[in-house]
Amino acid sequence: MSAAYVTTLCNGDGYLPGVAALGKSLDAHGATFPRIVLVTADVPAKARERLKKLGWQLRDVEPLDNPHPKKAQLFERFQSVYTKLRAWQLTDLEKVVLLDADLITLQNIDDLFDRPSIAAAPDFFLPDRFNSGLVVLEPSAETFESMLQALWETPSYDGGDQGFLNIFYSDWYSMDVAHRLPAGYNLQSFIFQFLRGHRSLKEALVREAKVIHYSVQKPWLAKSVLTGGSEAWWDSYFGAYPEEAKEWKRRWHAMEDWTFDHAVAAILG
Ligand code: GLC
Ligand code: MN
Repeated sequence: MSAAYVTTLCNGDGYLPGVAALGKSLDAHGATFPRIVLVTADVPAKARERLKKLGWQLRDVEPLDNPHPKKAQLFERFQSVYTKLRAWQLTDLEKVVLLDADLITLQNIDDLFDRPSIAAAPDFFLPDRFNSGLVVLEPSAETFESMLQALWETPSYDGGDQGFLNIFYSDWYSMDVAHRLPAGYNLQSFIFQFLRGHRSLKEALVREAKVIHYSVQKPWLAKSVLTGGSEAWWDSYFGAYPEEAKEWKRRWHAMEDWTFDHAVAAILG
């Protein structure tokens, strides 16, 4: 089967650290499928070189405009997220695992390629919707064309691709169970940290964590230390940038997770 892990990098190189860490984490757990990054013209040559060195195949794509005004978008960064839909155009591939650049894997996830299209994990906020940060799909020119047709008249509750896709695949929640991935395939960083910080939860649940998603705070951009799962992300990042790895930095990031645990404990009493 021709298949690949696919992610996107748009709007310059702000998310390059994310793609680098994601790639390293896939490698570290023995991913056997190729990795493709969809890049827009504004991604600089230096970033492209770096990605190639890290084993990514680059494919140039045109950005896809967000049909919603900025004020309807949950976060400013959602302006370019519709470009992710270009993954449906990769028709030389039979199956794609589409990943956001703000994810890392903690275990091998090659089994996802056995899933039917479309498959995704529930969203944290609204578990009857899927989170579009990790989606198993089958590229199809026809499907992509229908998406383009629907784009401008389809509302999106978050002003991004997730809201759109949940209407486009509005029957996801009632599909056969194979389409619904266990939550551990797309675990928000703060939930991962919460599970890890509690002995009883940790023993029962941390082994289910396969993918951590840094939806709210990107570790490489975070201004606060309350990201959760900080140590795990920086481990993958330092794998991609060994020249930046220093023992004191590792300890610092582990301390961020410790701070997170204690802040949560203080809030919960
Ligand atoms: C959420 C999803 C992400 C998506 C964004 C915009 O953050 O996790 O995958 O791109 O919403 O809809
Ligand atoms: Mn994301």
